[in-house]
Amino acid sequence: MEIFNSVSALRLYLESQRRDNKSIGFVPTMGALHAGHGSLITASRAGNDLTVCSIFVNPTQFNNPDDLAHYPRTLAADCAMLQAAGCDAVFAPSAQEMYPEPAVVKFDFGALERVMEGQFRPGHFNGVGVVVSKLFNIVQPDRAYFGQKDLQQTAVVRQMMVDLGFQIELHICPTLREADGLAMSSRNVNILAQHRPAASTIFRILNQAKTSLLAGESSKTAQVHAAEAFASQPDFKLAYFEIVNLHTLQPVAACQPEGQTAICAAAFLGKVRLIDNVVF
Ligand code: PAF
Repeated sequence: MEIFNSVSALRLYLESQRRDNKSIGFVPTMGALHAGHGSLITASRAGNDLTVCSIFVNPTQFNNPDDLAHYPRTLAADCAMLQAAGCDAVFAPSAQEMYPEPAVVKFDFGALERVMEGQFRPGHFNGVGVVVSKLFNIVQPDRAYFGQKDLQQTAVVRQMMVDLGFQIELHICPTLREADGLAMSSRNVNILAQHRPAASTIFRILNQAKTSLLAGESSKTAQVHAAEAFASQPDFKLAYFEIVNLHTLQPVAACQPEGQTAICAAAFLGKVRLIDNVVF
């Protein structure tokens, strides 16, 4: 497995791979890799000749300096994991390499970012848009792989690709979960041991709401029940619990026709902010 820190060296390598007619799959990450990332690498390997993974904790998508400071950084372990998973190349640039000058251009994703994460993390999706578009321009992959856990991010990336005309196939891969249902996330390592048993609550409440909505309950009532369920868990502080159209991400009054509804939640467990969703 090749490891690159510079844009120019990675470009040279990828140019020669493209000359050999190799198709390129790309998995952008911020490191602290887990089995969920592993599944993206597996999907990329299955669909491409070559798989590139980027590891870059992108400062411009953090609106909270404390969150950035505590984001786990495990580059050596990440590279070992990627090598074992059969990844071909890692791109691990410094912040200076990615942003020799601060980006001036700003992304505004309109209604897509006025809800949920966008409402609670101002500037977050601008940072995601800037870094993902830069990474796409550097790697120029045929296919890119993202996890469904960051559902709003996938919608924003899809919009950016349409608006900027990226000719890249977008693949959204299912969320991987721990045995108790907790969605795998790089942030999970920061969950305190005494909070860990409660962490699966978020997935349990999402599923309860899904069952109620499918039985005809209104979104408003499902939200009230979810808020009560979170309130009964002393270590959890709910940020939002939204029932939305899967594509527009706008709130819906009730369950949408088959395949159209997403329930998305964000909550603090102690100091760790967790997000999760179910789609149906
Ligand atoms: O999902 C992530 O890890 C990040 O938001 C991404 C897509 C790598 C951009 O920094």
